Amino acid sequence: MPNHRKEHPNLWVFEHPVIQDKLTQIRDCKTEYAQFRRLLNEIAGLMFFQLSRNFTTEEVSIKTPIEETTGRRLSSPVTLVPILRAGIGMTDGIQAVIPEARVGHIGVYRDEETKEPVPYYSKLPSDIADGPVLLIDPMLATGGSASHAATILRDEHMCQDVQMVCLVVAPEGVARMRKDHPDLTIYTAALDRCLNENGYILPGLGDAGDRIFGTL
Ligand code: PRP
Ligand code: URA
Repeated sequence: MPNHRKEHPNLWVFEHPVIQDKLTQIRDCKTEYAQFRRLLNEIAGLMFFQLSRNFTTEEVSIKTPIEETTGRRLSSPVTLVPILRAGIGMTDGIQAVIPEARVGHIGVYRDEETKEPVPYYSKLPSDIADGPVLLIDPMLATGGSASHAATILRDEHMCQDVQMVCLVVAPEGVARMRKDHPDLTIYTAALDRCLNENGYILPGLGDAGDRIFGTL
């Protein structure tokens, strides 16, 4: 299971050796975008498998080819919500583990000058609030984009159970999320040092969207 950080009560960090090995490859500037995308999806699937252990199940009756029995099923629909664009880079890896999850999309980009989030798209299942919602973005920098997306989910769509999955977070973004959404849990593979003067995470991995889609 991920480790809890005392200084950030809403943050859990996956220190699993396989995840850390893949993260190190992802950070490396020599890693090409096809490999970057593959590694990011692999990490996302591993993280999802562990964080989903708190999803609720219910007992159901089924018939095997031999006899009647009971089993357990997830009790409510799971919705993945990648923040466009970079969140898309983790979604396939999670859907490889849970193909029946629905996928909503929230489009927000960060204005390069002001660093403020600029919303441009939102398409979510109408019954999204009926089950757990996983907000997905590899990078949590200032926290502006994530906070904006979480507000859409919680205030406009009344989602009660929202958790966030990232790859790398900055302390500034974690603090912003704690202030704006104190009961939202964030899962990540790394808590990095800080932001630089351009709002990039240090040591980070650069611009995640560009590295996923080859638009450097
Ligand atoms: C990146 C990243 C986050 C955001 C994080 O997206 O994927 O959404 O920046 O920064 P913040 O915490 O300061 O808001 P970007 O704005 O580069 O858009 P893109 O995914 O379309 O490239
Ligand atoms: N967005 C990114 O893609 N990378 C950063 O370091 C910060 C924001």
